[in-house]
Parts: sequence; C-alpha cells; structure tokens
Amino acid sequence: MRADDAPIYLDGNSLGPLPLATQARIANVVGSEWGNGLVRSWDRWVELPREVGDLIGEHLTGAAPGQSLVSDSTTVNLFKLVSAALDAQPGRTVLVTDDDNFPTDRYVLEGIAAQRGCELRMIHTDTDDGLAEDTLVAALGPDVALVSLSHVAYRSGALADMARITGLVHEAGALMLWDLCHSVGAVPVRLDESGADLAIGCTYKYVNAGPGAPAFLYVRSDLQPRLLQPIWGWFGQREQFAMGPGYDPVPGIERFATGTPQIVGTVAVEEGTKLLGEAGIDRLRAKGIALTSYLIHLADEWLAPHGFTLASPRADARRGNHVTLHHRDAWRINRALIAAGVIGDYRTPDRLRLGPVPITTRFTDVWDALDRLRQIAADKSYRDLPAALSRVT
Ligand SMILES: Cc1ncc(COP(=O)(O)O)c(C=O)c1O
Repeated sequence: MRADDAPIYLDGNSLGPLPLATQARIANVVGSEWGNGLVRSWDRWVELPREVGDLIGEHLTGAAPGQSLVSDSTTVNLFKLVSAALDAQPGRTVLVTDDDNFPTDRYVLEGIAAQRGCELRMIHTDTDDGLAEDTLVAALGPDVALVSLSHVAYRSGALADMARITGLVHEAGALMLWDLCHSVGAVPVRLDESGADLAIGCTYKYVNAGPGAPAFLYVRSDLQPRLLQPIWGWFGQREQFAMGPGYDPVPGIERFATGTPQIVGTVAVEEGTKLLGEAGIDRLRAKGIALTSYLIHLADEWLAPHGFTLASPRADARRGNHVTLHHRDAWRINRALIAAGVIGDYRTPDRLRLGPVPITTRFTDVWDALDRLRQIAADKSYRDLPAALSRVT
C-alpha cells in the first residue's frame, strides 16, 4: 500500500517499488535462515540461482527450465556470454550492436573487441523510433559472430521484434543476444519461441527486486555444451566441493555461474517474479499499454502546445512500457516535476522519461502527473531552476 502523501511514481523502469512480501521474506532470510540456520542454510540456498532462473523463465521470459540462471550483474553476464559466443565461433570476429544501445552494453562490447583485436560494428539507430531492420541487415555478413541488441530501447522505449530480428541474424549464421532490462516484467518475452540464443537482464526495474539485486542470464539449452564462459569460478565447477585441481564446468546452465551467489538479493528476485506471475505477464502488458497510451493521449492534448513532442513510437505494438517526451528544457522540467511530487526521469538529450509500474500505477496517477506537468509548463516556474545538468539521476 502507498501512503496518501507518497509521490506519484513514474520511474518503474529505473528502480521498481518494494513489494510487501519481499520485505517479509528478506526479514526471514536474514533473521531466521542466516541468523539461526547459519551455514546450514547453504543446503537450500545453493539451488536458488537456478530455481529462481527457472521461475523467471516460466512467468516472464518464455524459457523452459534449465536455461536461465540468476547471477552477477547485467554487465558481467554480458561480458561472460559475449566472450563465450566469440570463442565458440573462431572464424567469425565481428560483433554488431547499435549506437542507441545502453552505455554498459556498448562499453562491454567495445572492451571485448579491444582486448581481442575484433571489430565492433556499430549501426545507427534513431533515438526516438528504434532500430531499422534494413540497417541491421546491411551490417550482417559471414564475419559476424554475434549481434547484441536491447529488446526495449532504454531511451525511447522502442520495442524490437525479437522473433523477426533473431531470424534475420540466424540467416547470416550469427548468434543473437538480447538485453531484456527494459522488457522483463512489463512486456512478455518469448525466448524459446523466438529462437533467441542468449539473453541477459536486470531485476531491479519491473521485477521489483531492489537496488543492485542480481541479474539473470539465458543460454539456449543446445548451445550450453559449446559455450565456455571466461570467468572460471568454483560455482560453475562439476563436483564443486571436491575442490579438484582443475576447472571442469558442469554441463548445464550453472556453468555460467561464477562465485558465491548473493542470496538476499536472489530471494527478492524470487518474490518479485512470483508477484508478477500471480498477476500474469499478459495482463500486466495490457495494463502497461493502456497506461502509456493514456499518457500519450494526455501529452498530445495538454503538453504539445507547450513545446513537448513524443520521443517514443506511437503504435502500441512498437512501444515497451515507458514514454519519452522531448522538450528543450526537459532537465529543469524534470526537477520541477519531482519538487511537485511526481518522480519521473531525465535522459539525454532533452528527454523526460515516464515509466509507469504496471502492477501499481493507477490511471488517476497518470492524469495527476500530466496535470502537474502542464501546470509547470504553463507557469514556466521551472525557469527559476539552474539550467546546468549536474548529475543524471
Ligand atoms: C538496457 C540496460 N542494460 C544494462 C543496464 C545496467 O546494467 P547493470 O545492472 O550491470 O548496471 C541497464 C540499466 O539501466 C539497462 O537499462
């Protein structure tokens, strides 16, 4: 439940809210399982990364058991899977991504390319409209090992056609990796059905697992024996507690684990996923579309006259769960909006990003938020704020 004076929260695509069940579960894990059970609790904890991975697959990402694992951060999982994909295809040395992909994705790919002397082929994507298929196709060829893209673009919210793009990449003989950070928990993902090879995603946005909660990865089952990840940690080892002399990874998904898993965060991922599973991802998607199309409708009516333009795809089927509005004073307007009790987000260049939380945001929240926004835009009070961009929140 939300307190009456709580701010209106339209930043679920950055950090999701705290579910009550998670608070109780964490208290139990800390107080009882750790406090009383001590090291004995590892007997149960050790299975959690795979079990919770399977739960994500069942409720949110359309992945059959044995292909998903909760581990590390999105960034580290990306490094592991891209490195493994390159090693598995010695004749192919090119990585493809787009210039609107999330910074950590671009940097990790840039780093891997530099470390190995590979080429990173960066294609151009429209910041507001998302990836153009023909631009991608033009970048494919027999030298491409892997294409790495975001399912939902972090800035515009543009939603890529996973099955179609995966098919195009496969026609060129390359592997396809999807970053699901901005779709998991809000947009149904069908990894198995679309033939995706690899995926990564975070859990602190729409899965509501809290700041720094562990991420997850997906490796299609038939690929697993061929892929060897670069961090040879003991949690990926066969007969882990035999403490053997050399690295001999388990055949299944746990070969992509590294070191001791973060248990408090992993149970938060479990609770968040269970809650979304109970609501049903298709119903959450339907509500997300209704909330964001209502938001766009109000923005057209109330905000367009004040210099706002839509910086997200207008068609529901091409949009994830957030709406981005362009305004030349977006930075100051966002500060004024937060002061007026509405938490949204700013993104370069000059964009206000509004991400309702499908499971908690009400339609009246959208109305109230846009009403406050139109008042701020009309009275221009934001102009009293400093223009400098000191820190992107
Ligand atoms: C698309 C995308 N990928 C990756 C990340 C971040 O990765 P990490 O959890 O490792 O910081 C974000 C964070 O917002 C993101 O939006």
